[in-house]
Amino acid sequence: MDVAAPGLAKATGRAPRPADPCTLVIFGAAGDLTKRLLLPALYNLAAAGLLSDAFTIVGVARADDSDNGFRGRMRAALQEFATDGVRPTTLDDLIGRCCYVRGDFDDPSTYQRLKDRLGEIARTSRTRDNCLFYLATPPGLFAPVARHLGEAGLAEARGGCWRRLIIEKPFGFDLASACALNKELLRSFSEKQIYRIDHYLGKETVQNIMVLRFANGMFEPIWNRHHIDHVQITVAETVSVENRGKLYDHTGALRDMVPNHLFQLLALTAMEPPGRFEAAAVRAEKLKAIEAIHPLTKEAIATDVVRGQYRAGHVNGKAVPAYRDADGVAPGSLTETYVAMRLVVDNWRWAGVPFYLRTGKALAARKTEIAIRFRSAPLALFRDMPVDNLAQNLLVLRIQPDEGAALHFNAKIPGPEIRIENVRMNFKYEDYFDAAPSTGYETLIYDCMIGDPMLFQRAVDIEAGWRVVDPILQAWRESDGRDLCLYEAGGDGPKAVEGLLAHTGQQWRPIA
Ligand code: BG6
Repeated sequence: MDVAAPGLAKATGRAPRPADPCTLVIFGAAGDLTKRLLLPALYNLAAAGLLSDAFTIVGVARADDSDNGFRGRMRAALQEFATDGVRPTTLDDLIGRCCYVRGDFDDPSTYQRLKDRLGEIARTSRTRDNCLFYLATPPGLFAPVARHLGEAGLAEARGGCWRRLIIEKPFGFDLASACALNKELLRSFSEKQIYRIDHYLGKETVQNIMVLRFANGMFEPIWNRHHIDHVQITVAETVSVENRGKLYDHTGALRDMVPNHLFQLLALTAMEPPGRFEAAAVRAEKLKAIEAIHPLTKEAIATDVVRGQYRAGHVNGKAVPAYRDADGVAPGSLTETYVAMRLVVDNWRWAGVPFYLRTGKALAARKTEIAIRFRSAPLALFRDMPVDNLAQNLLVLRIQPDEGAALHFNAKIPGPEIRIENVRMNFKYEDYFDAAPSTGYETLIYDCMIGDPMLFQRAVDIEAGWRVVDPILQAWRESDGRDLCLYEAGGDGPKAVEGLLAHTGQQWRPIA
């Protein structure tokens, strides 16, 4: 990156430059994503002085509305969803930059009206005709909207301007549909113009994984099979499917979380050091890590993958009905709300080091972490002392909610005898840094506006993720569902996951 992204600026003390002049065109401007996340993120960028003076927003949606009506709705949304209150001058300035184009997304005349409007903006403001098309729409509309943009000539960057497209997962439903979507998008936009968001990469603590590994001298020499016993990656959620039942029942935990968020965490943990801290090098190394995951055979899926679904229970004292009783969920549904697996990253660095992944809903606690368990020190020195075993060193990168990192190691208990206890050195972000209020989308939007694709995924990255999970989806499709383990809402997940590591003498880290 040639400039510090917003989040990094505070730590380095370097002030990032404002983003390029541009117009942000939001398709689905009346939707929840726009109101709850995009606008508050834009407000935070504006408040931090990171938007260009020539920044403009064009909302596109079906509702019959005017510029003024749209501004009123956006003002109300910001007042409700801003992350930390609003300053009237910043608010007025941002709202004054909004305008509206009404239209159906499948009607070519919508794109002609949009084109006229963008032409007028380019003539009357200093946006240099740069446009960022944000598809805050249901995923089924990604390909059609991109195609219409292409047909209207809006995807083409002429006369030195840039045109970019932002979309956020789901990118397809399996490998075949993801490839088909990529193919469709690439008809109108080039790979370089497409910014695919994985919101996990907007999290400061996720970005910090590379800094922890590569800006410190002490971790990298031991970050390999010679010193690491195994890695556990956990994304535990307390939320149940709530009112998303209909959508979720066609998705499930595997599609929803694994090829995207969990694989991003795995890639950042397993990747080789990139040659440079820039997009091409970083993305190439992450892709190699995903591609090194050993393909799962049918037999391996039966033993190394566990799927679960929550029964009724209590999460944080609140009653949660069984998944199958949630609105929109088919009776007798086999959709998994929990998945755990053992993966092998089959390369020189990681051969023989299992990566255990698990994610689920309606669990005892919200916790995203990467736990790296090191090999034991030899007991030899302490064999004749009251020491039964030496706990393995453990490094835990806490992604959320209690952001930080902890190193667990052995220390002598004071006293005349040599007795040993496992102790913990704990780093908490909040003790060192004042995190600016954030939606998690600020860095991502800013990076799009400055054209830094490091935190975004290419078609090949998406397809590599699906390639690993596709055989699991297929095995489940062919199964009668007897392998689906029910677990109580508010617990740690299905008991069967213990089997994934029991034979190694290891245990999962507790969720709560
Ligand atoms: C989304 C999934 O991508 O990530 C949701 O669709 C999930 O089901 C969410 O709850 C988790 O994100 P976070 O940032 O809360 O960990």
